[in-house]
Amino acid sequence: MQCSWKAVILLALASIAIQYTAIRTLTSKPFQLCPLPSPQNCGLLGGPETEPPFEGRAGCDDYPYFNFSASRKTHILVLATTRSGSSFVGQLLNQHSDVFYLFEPLYHVQTTLIPRLSHSRNAADRRVMLGASRDLLRSLYGCDLYFLESYIKPAPANHTTDKLFRRGASRALCSQPVCDAFSPADGNVEEGDCVKKCTTLNMTLAADACREKRHVAIKIVRVPEIGDLRALVEDPRLNIKVIQLVRDPRGILSSRIETFRDTYRLWRIWRATGRRPYNLDLSQLTVVCEDFLSSVSTGLSHPHWLKGKYMLVRYEDLARNPLVKTKEIYDYLGLPMDRYVEEWIQANTRGSTELSAKHKYGTVRDSAANAESWRLKLSYDMVEYTQTTCEKVLHQLGYKAVMSAEELKNMSISLVQDKTFVPFL
Ligand SMILES: *[C@@H]1O[C@H](CO)[C@@H](O)[C@H](O)[C@H]1NC(C)=O
Ligand SMILES: *[C@@H]1O[C@H](CO)[C@@H](O)[C@H](O)[C@H]1NC(C)=O
Ligand SMILES: *[C@@H]1O[C@H](CO)[C@@H](O)[C@H](O)[C@H]1NC(C)=O
Ligand SMILES: *[C@@H]1O[C@H](CO)[C@@H](O)[C@H](O)[C@H]1NC(C)=O
Repeated sequence: MQCSWKAVILLALASIAIQYTAIRTLTSKPFQLCPLPSPQNCGLLGGPETEPPFEGRAGCDDYPYFNFSASRKTHILVLATTRSGSSFVGQLLNQHSDVFYLFEPLYHVQTTLIPRLSHSRNAADRRVMLGASRDLLRSLYGCDLYFLESYIKPAPANHTTDKLFRRGASRALCSQPVCDAFSPADGNVEEGDCVKKCTTLNMTLAADACREKRHVAIKIVRVPEIGDLRALVEDPRLNIKVIQLVRDPRGILSSRIETFRDTYRLWRIWRATGRRPYNLDLSQLTVVCEDFLSSVSTGLSHPHWLKGKYMLVRYEDLARNPLVKTKEIYDYLGLPMDRYVEEWIQANTRGSTELSAKHKYGTVRDSAANAESWRLKLSYDMVEYTQTTCEKVLHQLGYKAVMSAEELKNMSISLVQDKTFVPFL
């Protein structure tokens, strides 16, 4: 049959789209941010799906449903990639007593919509995933946690689940009233302890806790670049502040090789044997650099839609000078930094080495010493290869290339050049 491959792609696409539509239809309250007293103003009369609830503000324009100057909620979005230090940045927000924090809710979108193509670069898959991600983020910023339930497997019963991804990473979800296992006197609850002792998560209580907090922060690693979020950033119902986190791609590669042992197996073989396997998946590296490059180029070109809403943070700067840099972040967010954040930094950025090995995603470690420790782990030819592949973005972000193995291993010279990225105000 002619064009059969097209038919296959169309079919695959259709099935994803159908799943997604089904999920949207099943959700009783598709858009929490357009709710409230007179539903006729929001086109909700004939059931929740009479209007496409996400495509803009259809039917809601004339209704002052969401008064920002009154609520002054800040919707913080940490845009990162895996192993770029995003757990660390997440904690800097999570520790704040006025912040409700969620650790990568998009995990559920991806596992539901494109389970087998977890790193799909297919443009159509990507569009579906991004559309769904933006919708979910919008709902979560409005504290509509029920919306997330549509993506959780197995489906939560009676609005309770024990399958929320990395629930233990959110302080609000591990403390009262969401979880009674710990009292405020217990201090910082370890992620594993939270998961063990807090048992089932009541999503109703979680949503209440979200509404109680003045601000919502969400960390994501599954959106490739800032341009993909434009619709969200421009949404007048939201008050988004993006923190784009970047890290030296050589450091990211090294960290992934250590952490994702199966996926990065061939890179480990390269490191061990000194020979690059012919079937190495180079996209594992190139994608990071391409995404950084396009995202950072967009951000630093200061498009009008990002005005006041974009800050670029290099992980290495944060690791070197956590207190100062965190203060800068909070200034940009327009929030006072509270003592819990400060205490957490004090406790977690001096070498508390005995804990560090335990936490795959942990942030308990001497951050400054770790930021460049990749130099002792990668071989020179891997570094050289990365430098060639990622030349532009290394230059743009101020990461110095090395010219020899001696230079690579000589830790007395930092490869992080002084470079200031001021928030776009
Ligand atoms: C929003 O709230 C502020 C402060 O309470 C008030 O001054 C302003 O008029 C309100 N705006 C609208 C559109 O209701
Ligand atoms: C949900 O709640 C109802 C009514 O309280 C109960 O009968 C049912 O067993 C609950 N379902 C689950 C899976 O717990
Ligand atoms: C979850 O919390 C809400 C609010 O406190 C409560 O009404 C509901 O019964 C709880 N759900 C379950 C299954 O315990
Ligand atoms: C490391 O670099 C510094 C500064 O260039 C140099 O003085 C030192 O000799 C180098 N150390 C080694 C072991 O090469």
